[in-house]
Formats: sequence, C-alpha cells, structure tokens
Amino acid sequence: MDFNMYQKEVQLKDGAKVLLRPMVAEDQDDLYEFFKAIPREEVRYLRDDVQSRLLVEKWAKNLDYNKTLPILAVKDGDIIADATINRRRSGWKWHLGTVRLFVHKDYRNVGLGHLMIEELGRIAYELKIEKLIVEIPGLNTAAVNAFSKEGFYRAAVIPNMVKDRENRPVDVVVMMKDIKPAHDDEYDYDF
Ligand SMILES: CC(C)(COP(=O)(O)OP(=O)(O)OC[C@H]1O[C@@H](n2cnc3c(N)ncnc32)[C@H](O)[C@@H]1OP(=O)(O)O)[C@@H](O)C(=O)NCCC(=O)NCCS
Repeated sequence: MDFNMYQKEVQLKDGAKVLLRPMVAEDQDDLYEFFKAIPREEVRYLRDDVQSRLLVEKWAKNLDYNKTLPILAVKDGDIIADATINRRRSGWKWHLGTVRLFVHKDYRNVGLGHLMIEELGRIAYELKIEKLIVEIPGLNTAAVNAFSKEGFYRAAVIPNMVKDRENRPVDVVVMMKDIKPAHDDEYDYDF
C-alpha cells in the first residue's frame, strides 16, 4: 500500500464529506491546534501530552509510516480527527498494530469514529497486521462502545494500570480485533 498516494473521501451521517489521508510534515501547526482544542477533562486521560508543541513537532519531523501511520480526517481544511496505527517491525509483537483515535468534540456522534475504525481495519489488513489492539480508560464508555461496534472484543481489563494527569490510578480496557489469520494470504476478510 503506497501511503503517499492514499486518500479516501467518506460521508458523515449528516451528509458532510470528509477526507481521510495520512499526516504529512506540513500538518504540524494544524495538528497542534487540533490537540490544543481538547478540553482539560479529556486531556487527563490521554497517553501523551499531545498539547505539547515540542511533541507534535517531533512527530511531524520524524514521520515514518512503517512505525506510526497517522491518518487525519480533514473537513474544509481543518483536522477533525486523528487516528494512528503503531507497529513494531520485529520481536514478538511484529504482527500487532496498536490503534489510537481522537475525534474533535464538535464532530462526534455523526459516525466519524465508526468510519475511521473501519478504515483502520482495512489498512491493517493491507499491511498484513494480524491483530489490532486499543487501550481505553475503563470509564470511557463511548470509546468501548465505538470499538465494540467495529468488532473489537474486550481482551482484558487491567486495574489501576495507568495514571491520569492528576496522578490518580485508572483501569485500562484492552480491546482487540482479529484482522487476518497468521500465514493466510488468501483469507477474504469481511469488513
Ligand atoms: C470514542 C470516539 C472516537 C467515538 O467517535 P465518534 O465519531 O463520536 O463515534 P461515532 O459517531 O462513529 O459512534 C460510533 C459508536 O460509538 C458509540 N458512542 C459514541 N459516542 C457515545 C457516547 N457518548 N456514549 C455511548 N456510546 C457512544 C455508539 O455505540 C456509536 O454507535 P451508534 O451511533 O450506532 O450508536 C470519540 O468519542 C473520541 O474521540 N473520544 C475521545 C478519545 C477516545 O476516547 N479515543 C479512544 C481511545 S484511543
């Protein structure tokens, strides 16, 4: 799959058209603005300090789709969602992809999360990833529901696994989706 050529137009439930495409270095400032708009109560539960300009600069500078593939949803020039698939290319996790997804608050509940999770599944299949994994703070029902609807199952709940920004322990729900059986190039997956 050539990600320099990849882009896809999708339609939200309200009819709005959105472009899905990989992040490029020039997206740096817009991505920073996108993360800056995340409300405090949600930032608390994110893995990285995405509101750090330095971190976003680092991501833009070190883009390597083989390690981290960031897919942006863009509407009228604005980034309205960001999803990533992370991979390790060697070792015992080489066949896994770890997913992250954030939809801008103003564009939730119109099917964008659904479309992006579905597209991540398709991309993972093309990349020969066998399983996708997502780690979700236990109290995030919206995310657990959104991933369940796309065929992710609850593989584990790890109590007190992470700390929020106020250093309070938070349970993590690990959800997985089987994308492709091992060593079966002929497998016809029904998305
Ligand atoms: C989770 C998230 C990605 C969902 O995105 P979205 O675009 O609003 O999702 P959709 O509109 O496609 O909804 C998909 C399903 O999610 C579930 N869902 C969405 N919002 C929900 C809510 N507030 N409460 C309960 N379920 C919800 C529903 O099952 C919904 O399906 P339905 O519309 O058929 O009922 C979005 O809320 C988000 O970005 N949250 C913050 C970041 C995050 O939690 N990321 C996931 C972990 S990496």
